Amino acid sequence: MNVKIYHSITNEEFLEVIQSVGFKTYNNEQVTKALGNTMYMVKVEVDGKLAGIGRVVGDYSIVCCLSDICVKPEFQKKGIGLIIVNELKKMIEEGVKEGEKMQIELTPTAGNEKFYQKAGFKYKPDVITGMYLWIEK
Ligand SMILES: CC(C)(COP(=O)(O)OP(=O)(O)OC[C@H]1O[C@@H](n2cnc3c(N)ncnc32)[C@H](O)[C@@H]1OP(=O)(O)O)[C@@H](O)C(=O)NCCC(=O)NCCS
Repeated sequence: MNVKIYHSITNEEFLEVIQSVGFKTYNNEQVTKALGNTMYMVKVEVDGKLAGIGRVVGDYSIVCCLSDICVKPEFQKKGIGLIIVNELKKMIEEGVKEGEKMQIELTPTAGNEKFYQKAGFKYKPDVITGMYLWIEK
């Protein structure tokens, strides 16, 4: 398995991967804006084929959020998701200065908590429960 990591994602690649896992889709204008305002992004290719993506949005200082961590179904359970999250974590860590701290948040889809725990994230539903709201017009 020849794995390559890239730090850019095209609109077409973004839509291809999120649609492959059944995520909500977006128009091209929204994707351009979203990727343009993304702190860090990662794309993984396996043997020259697009396998997965992930990105980080945030304020570059105190808080950021993992988003769109997606591996195409045919490439799942091969360690690609972990490669994506670890690369994003590395990029975030490089931006945190000595003496500073930054929180990485995420809202896992049900059943994926163990995956994120393997990537080092804390899961304490008795202390913190993630919540979300879609604004749709
Ligand atoms: C969640 C997702 C990104 C995981 O990617 P992946 O490439 O299949 O995960 P990996 O192969 O890197 O898994 C790493 C480890 O986590 C475990 N793991 C992965 N998904 C898991 C799950 N749902 N439940 C329990 N363990 C899981 C793997 O078994 C592996 O463990 P190991 O190191 O002991 O073998 C992928 O399944 C996906 O894209 N799902 C659909 C989209 C989605 O829901 N994304 C998350 C949005 S919050």
